Amino acid sequence: MKQIVVSGIRSTGRLHLGNYLGALRNFVQMQREYNCFFFIADLHSLTTHPTAADLHGSVRAVMAEYLAAGLDPKQCTLYVQSDVPETTELYLLLNMNAYLGELQRCTSFKDKIRKQPNNINAGLLTYPTLMAADILIHRANLVPVGKDQEQHLEMTRTFGLRFNRMYGTELFPEPQAYNPQSPLVKIPGLDGTGKMGKSEGNALYLSDSPEDIRKKVMRAVSDNTPKAPNEPKSEPVQNLFALLRAVSSSDTVEFFEDQYQACTIRYGDMKKQLAEDIIALTTPLREKIEMYLADDRLLSDVAAMGAEAARKSAKETLRLAKEAMGIRKL
Ligand code: TYM
Repeated sequence: MKQIVVSGIRSTGRLHLGNYLGALRNFVQMQREYNCFFFIADLHSLTTHPTAADLHGSVRAVMAEYLAAGLDPKQCTLYVQSDVPETTELYLLLNMNAYLGELQRCTSFKDKIRKQPNNINAGLLTYPTLMAADILIHRANLVPVGKDQEQHLEMTRTFGLRFNRMYGTELFPEPQAYNPQSPLVKIPGLDGTGKMGKSEGNALYLSDSPEDIRKKVMRAVSDNTPKAPNEPKSEPVQNLFALLRAVSSSDTVEFFEDQYQACTIRYGDMKKQLAEDIIALTTPLREKIEMYLADDRLLSDVAAMGAEAARKSAKETLRLAKEAMGIRKL
């Protein structure tokens, strides 16, 4: 039997290079080898209260981006989270055994409290239980995600194992965060510190034009040329190299590493090369995104087909979970 893979991306606008390199590119690689369920996490994006029009537009955009990246609805199940109500039912059941202390200690929750102190809603607090429900509803083994999701995966394992123990069942396997070719990645932003993110204003989007990409990359924070061989790299410089490693050939990376060590590096030249390599990666995607976005019929057919397959798998898990808990017809 093929192992089961589940992952999703929130519909909060267009996808950026971090989403692509940390997650979507791996989805595409895994679809042939595994039994894959990939979805658009529209319910998760409600924590920030998008307008109805924005939410719907973002869901369409992510579906078009999934298809443009090479996800094939004949090879994997592609669906919208809210089309599978079994997920929200499992979320309610899991919430009964998710404790306030552990939810409050979750790093992403603490970050949100800092960033949006006026909107600390219950959906944010229980974000990890909804994510656990997404994963456990298909009894997944592997979850391709970026490094920022590691703690959520750990909580998913805790909730699944706790359920198994409480109800004397082996229903839920222990899902692992996974990257097919390397350890989990964190793609940095262009502002010198931290990860690339939609809300950090430091992102390169798959749909950015070549001019936008050149402008953003040339403006990225760098540093002074090193003064002595083997000088440790500052964070902005490490970040530029991390981006280069993610998108450029190993020869290119080696070339600039040598120049850095020789203290002859010109960051302007490195950024020019980086921009061109990003453009080479995103141009074919950008063209396909436009094509899929213009095809409403295809987008809705793919979502309908995906919902049907995802619900079949989800219904069976939910039936078993409820049976284990004693939720039965009188
Ligand atoms: P989200 O929507 O923030 O991001 C989607 C995916 O992109 C990865 N990612 C990154 N990877 C590397 N570097 C970055 N700078 C970067 N930024 C984002 C994320 O790690 C993620 O894999 N909670 C999830 C969505 C979700 C989910 C799930 C994922 C909901 N249910 C079930 C897996 C399984 C999230 O907010 O990802």
